[in-house]
Amino acid sequence: MTDPKRGMRRALTSYGDEAFSLFLRKAFIKAMGYSDDALARPVIGITNTFSGFNACHRNVPELIEAVKRGVMLAGGLPIEFPTISLHESFAHPTSMYLRNLMAIDVEEMIRAQPMDAVVLIGGCDKTVPALLMGAASANTPAIVLVTGPMITGSHRGERLGACTDCRRFWAKYRAGDVGEREIADINASLAPSAGTCMVMGTASTMACMTEALGMMLPGGAAIPAVHADRLRTAEASGARAVALAQEGLTPDRIMTPRALENALRMLLAIGGSTNAIVHIAAVAGRLGVAVDLDAFDRLGRETPVLVDLKPTGQHYMEDLFKAGGVTAILRELKPMLNLDCITVTGATLGETIDAAPASFAQEVVRPLGNPVFGEGGIAVLRGNIAPNGAIIKQAAASARLLQHAGRAVVFRSLEDLAERIDRDDLDVTPDDILVLQNAGPKGAPGMPESGYLPIPRRLARQGVKDMVRISDARMSGTAFGTIVLHISPEAAIGGPLALVQDGDRIALDTSRRRIDLMVDETELAARRRAWQPPQPSAEDARGYRKLFMESVEQAEHGCDFGFLKPAITTRTPTR
Ligand code: FES
Repeated sequence: MTDPKRGMRRALTSYGDEAFSLFLRKAFIKAMGYSDDALARPVIGITNTFSGFNACHRNVPELIEAVKRGVMLAGGLPIEFPTISLHESFAHPTSMYLRNLMAIDVEEMIRAQPMDAVVLIGGCDKTVPALLMGAASANTPAIVLVTGPMITGSHRGERLGACTDCRRFWAKYRAGDVGEREIADINASLAPSAGTCMVMGTASTMACMTEALGMMLPGGAAIPAVHADRLRTAEASGARAVALAQEGLTPDRIMTPRALENALRMLLAIGGSTNAIVHIAAVAGRLGVAVDLDAFDRLGRETPVLVDLKPTGQHYMEDLFKAGGVTAILRELKPMLNLDCITVTGATLGETIDAAPASFAQEVVRPLGNPVFGEGGIAVLRGNIAPNGAIIKQAAASARLLQHAGRAVVFRSLEDLAERIDRDDLDVTPDDILVLQNAGPKGAPGMPESGYLPIPRRLARQGVKDMVRISDARMSGTAFGTIVLHISPEAAIGGPLALVQDGDRIALDTSRRRIDLMVDETELAARRRAWQPPQPSAEDARGYRKLFMESVEQAEHGCDFGFLKPAITTRTPTR
């Protein structure tokens, strides 16, 4: 390859003498044992997101080997490089706090190193968003490969899946219905293989959306991590990356506003994770596109939930794979999609759907005329408590609570919640509304998945399974319940959520898309004048945390750092 902008000639280190820079680079790359022939090939970077702290990425090493095989079969030179790896349970205070750091790392490593295209290997919740954000900003040809979902576990003949069943059994344990011995047995069976959570949690949601977005090979989202097809799609992704390098098909030509709309349709149709709306807003923001929450809600009213997967339904990702995967969903959604969007294959989405294997009878993906839930899984709420928006995963809520008014029981922080939620003297009834403040992007910080407030132990033991819970936090995509999330502006910056006090009445009206604090404006104005921001922590003064606290945006903007985004020039959904 002699193009001065390609291969080892890309992104030369600055010594003030380009010929010397190339000479020096070649000297060091030769130390890796490459021949001149190898070094003349298109260079395909491969993100190595393996980590001993990331079980969801346990299979990354073998995926890399398969990608390398595909790259070499297609005539390229594969070179892997490390990036930050994030696992949900091994990231303090929360993986969301570190997503932007990973996105910066990915962007800068793609830009700094000489690669003509990149295979982005991710899987666990925040990794795929971070990879897409970084790739969008670097705008080097890129293709996403996910690690794939885990297979299901089993407990006394019942299928188990992380982490919907983690939460279900933990609630039973808290209620006293499951003992110490059994909960330990369950703990050992919830995550039985490499791969990502096998319900329609955030990882599965982002995988399905990435396929609909066009950044992944057809069929790539649902193949289980341990299936041989996972390695075959890895090999094919490597081969396709070589073609992408030659064609110069960059992410900005794939991730257009219309393609982002397709991804949002997918989110609604799969009853996907609420986290995905934040992540896709962040990815869109990197491309100068804003997600219009009200237009997204309109999309939701006409897009039914078609996929019968936990936590809203009954099946798991391996069942979706056997039912035809994302292709089966796209086929049903076809009348609603922007079919002219170009995908990473070089074909349009419409051509991809038409070229897919024929459909067959199955029970996981419903036809449009017989959906699991009549409208989209996620609804956007507004009201005096959430002037900039809030969301509710209505498909995972209790129907009887979607219209509900109740007395507020307020927790001022995560620490306050942990300290008081299980106290016997907590003044709470099943009809009350649990309110968590200061758990948003800046408040926690990092907007943790603490919006799934536990049912107070006293009520859980009485058999209470669900209550309306509201916060500025997020919720795991694997969770369920009548839970209002992402309230914006957040309490820590003085949003109206900060003004809620014990005993106030709150009204949730999901059909009208309203969440309101039933306190008169005079009283609210007085509380607003008296409001004091939370005391900054000593940790806020330095390092990444300082950058985070100064730069993180609110949920509706994707919780990205504002300085990483270009000016917003367009919006999605486009209709
Ligand atoms: Fe990694 Fe669930 S913890 S996908």
